[in-house]
Amino acid sequence: MLLPPLTQIPPTIAAVSDYEPFARARMSEQAWAYIAGGAADELTLRDNIAAFQRLRLRSRVLADLSGGTTRLQLFGQTFEHPIVLAPVAYQKLAHADGELATVLAAAAVQAGMVVSTQASIELEAIAREAQSPLWFQLYIQHDRDFTRDLVRRAEAAGYQALVVTVDAPVNGVRNREQRAGFVLPAGVEAVNLRGMRPLPTGSAQPDGGLLLGGPLLAAAPTWQDLRWLRSLTRLPVLLKGVMTGEDARRALEEGVDGIIVSNHGGRTLDTQPATISVLAEVAAALEGRVPLLLDGGIRRGSDVFKALALGADAVLVGRPYMFGLAAAGAVGVAHVVQMLRAELEVAMALTGCPDLRAIGPGSISPAHG
Ligand code: GLV
Repeated sequence: MLLPPLTQIPPTIAAVSDYEPFARARMSEQAWAYIAGGAADELTLRDNIAAFQRLRLRSRVLADLSGGTTRLQLFGQTFEHPIVLAPVAYQKLAHADGELATVLAAAAVQAGMVVSTQASIELEAIAREAQSPLWFQLYIQHDRDFTRDLVRRAEAAGYQALVVTVDAPVNGVRNREQRAGFVLPAGVEAVNLRGMRPLPTGSAQPDGGLLLGGPLLAAAPTWQDLRWLRSLTRLPVLLKGVMTGEDARRALEEGVDGIIVSNHGGRTLDTQPATISVLAEVAAALEGRVPLLLDGGIRRGSDVFKALALGADAVLVGRPYMFGLAAAGAVGVAHVVQMLRAELEVAMALTGCPDLRAIGPGSISPAHG
């Protein structure tokens, strides 16, 4: 029997990870496998977290912290703090209100939110509730006309940037989902993709291959499709899923407005490095020319701090707020962001950083990492 969402936050929840058991008790085994799980042996999923834990901070004393702030500007928008809610699909799997609970929480704690293409609520309905920066995550679909219409819908609904996810042209090998027999339950679907042309199944591949040479990869987006998308819209376009300096440089040449270092929360290619381990390489390639964000493994405000120290302008969190959502709806999501922000501010104060610009490589101990 699944427990109903909490109506009050128990005092034993003092950190983001404390939400996990409360979330698990309120989700089916299948939904838990989908949200909490990753690809294959989940080494990247775990390493995203472990790599943050290995880094050590350099505290500084007696710094002047007056007039401090966590505020930043991105693409002409003001963010009160650098913690953004990552695009996560099918949020009704976690709570009956799904993305509507999340957008309410985002407003309450002034967090930016990125709505997934695979949201379980219509993108227009989510946008109507938004009171903080709202971006739309896009997969370039095999049906390019449908993709263009999605962009137009997002623009019309008032989304302020597009986040194009490029690290998942195929699903990762999701063994945990397979073992749990994950299928979407009745009433949960990617409502914004209704009406899309199905992918042609094609004939059996002559060489017996399963993926290569088949229709899915034939329709997978390329740099040329990114160029097409860039030409379609005046919204800022961020590329999500970049893990190398080479791809970051190419993305700059193609005119992207921002980069998100991400390994899809360890859900696509297992044994990729942790995102925080490749952040410096990508930052060096970008030379500060466009904003740089990171997701994957953030469980503490000090992790947010570490990402900023190594070159990120802001971060996205996914599973932490999904656990808050499953446990306690909008209140849980808001509480997760507040805890991360409070921990970030403590880290800033104790490292002598009154604002985000003061956070740099000198805040990380060179003896570790
Ligand atoms: C969707 O993007 C997923 O990771 O399940």
